Amino acid sequence: MLFGYTITMNNNEQLMEKIISLSKNRGFIFQAGELYGGMAGIYDYGPLGSLLKNNIKNLWIKKFVENRRDMYLLDSAIVMGEKPLTASGHVGGFSDPMIECLNCGTKHRTDNLINELEMNSVLDLALKPINDAVHATKDINGTFLNVFQKEKAESLIFEKKVSDSNEEFLLANKYLGQYPSIYLKSIEKKCEKCNKVAWADEAHEFNLMLKTQLGSSSDSSSTAYLRPETAQGIFVNYKNIMDSMHPKLPFGVAQIGKAYRNEITPRNFIFRLRELEQMEIEYFIHPENWKAEFEYWKDEMLEWSEMIGLDMNKLHEVEIGENDRAHYSQRTVDFEFDYPFGQKELFGLAYRGDYDLIKHAEASKTKLQYTDPVANETFVPHIIEPSMGLDRTILAILASAYTEDEIDGNTRLYLALNPLVAPYKIAVSPLVKNKEYIVNEANRVFGQLKAEFGNVSWDDNGNVGKRYRRQDEIGTPFCVVVDYDTLEEGHADFGTGSIRHRDTAEQERVAITELNNYFTEKLS
Ligand code: GAP
Repeated sequence: MLFGYTITMNNNEQLMEKIISLSKNRGFIFQAGELYGGMAGIYDYGPLGSLLKNNIKNLWIKKFVENRRDMYLLDSAIVMGEKPLTASGHVGGFSDPMIECLNCGTKHRTDNLINELEMNSVLDLALKPINDAVHATKDINGTFLNVFQKEKAESLIFEKKVSDSNEEFLLANKYLGQYPSIYLKSIEKKCEKCNKVAWADEAHEFNLMLKTQLGSSSDSSSTAYLRPETAQGIFVNYKNIMDSMHPKLPFGVAQIGKAYRNEITPRNFIFRLRELEQMEIEYFIHPENWKAEFEYWKDEMLEWSEMIGLDMNKLHEVEIGENDRAHYSQRTVDFEFDYPFGQKELFGLAYRGDYDLIKHAEASKTKLQYTDPVANETFVPHIIEPSMGLDRTILAILASAYTEDEIDGNTRLYLALNPLVAPYKIAVSPLVKNKEYIVNEANRVFGQLKAEFGNVSWDDNGNVGKRYRRQDEIGTPFCVVVDYDTLEEGHADFGTGSIRHRDTAEQERVAITELNNYFTEKLS
């Protein structure tokens, strides 16, 4: 009997460990290269993880491409040349500020070690004596008092890398240079790896792109990168899509694919990865419609989140301030999720304006425009970008679905996955393995359901109770058991199978001939 209450997990660390161990033990997600010690920030999806992932991708394509008339699917190359990624700003600017621990050699993001408020006060203190000294060498009109003082001020400026004019630059790059080190040493912040205070004197930019070399020569023309976002493949194909498909504005290009970021501190299982998968849409619009389109896509992203079974109480819309937005974005709303390790980004929605098309047009010396056939107006379309990380989606789905309850005094674990994303929709079992007529009939039912619903599993391991537990843990919403009653009720065609429901553990009997209709209704 089921005592239907859910145990609230108050120990989030424990929950995270349970999700990781379930993922491994039940064939969802494995550490890549585990046999050789593993690779940080890279994971392989096992048999069930691959099914879950494919279900999500297929639903995404159905919702955002197949069910619409304004969307084109793309599958662009992962390897990109240096020129487009220089134009997009990634070669120069896709970097994190990083400081090294000289004791153990690990590198850490300075903006993770020091928060915004701390950093501002450090900079105020650091800048004050320098600014005072520079100002002291100037007269009331701001000109230097004499050549000697000018030189002195200039050497001071050079030495400290600060001046009135580049103070703004310094503030924007405050996590770089000497200041992070001064602060970390002053508060004796220990390295989380070796527990020592041994920070290098300067923090540096660290480009996050994975670089490679094409062909045998090693000159700069052969330098290439694994794309840091799928979006760039869409922008560089804008002209091809216009010339081949002749779309009318507004229209979108959707792409699912791998992206690569050499994250300094990959962490939290599949949350911050070095090899990740994105589902991105670049939606091309007339600039004057951007506000309405932005709101529309916000709603679409919420609808998507609900459709795949995310716990909507754990989803938060966060408006990203000007200083924290990516260089290309004029407005960003992040959808953050309450993961077991805290509230963090799940999806992002950005208004990229005409930034990308202008940059690629300039660099490639090609017009990337649109001519409205009715108004006869030519302009560069603006872009709204709903961007959804697939791995983070999977983590949020697992965290939403992980449930423990109690049945007959025993703790039971199940994944309350939405049937649309569940790896298997149905599991079919013979009650016993030693009665040929039961096994045969179960096989017949299995074939019947598999032909209709695809992802149906055959499970005859252990006893029925154990099979239910196993299917609960992998989130199979329904188990069908063919038993003595199925055949005793006369001819098999008129018999019933037992259907057991994952979330309630309740059972009901449904005629074998009715199973397809029954599941069509339940799974649609
Ligand atoms: N084209 C825009 C773009 O790439 P982003 O915020 O850097 O923007 C978009 O990434 C989404 O990709 C994020 O909302 C997140 O879901 C996912 N993502 C980004 N970096 C990731 C990482 N290191 N590991 C896993 N997912 C990541």
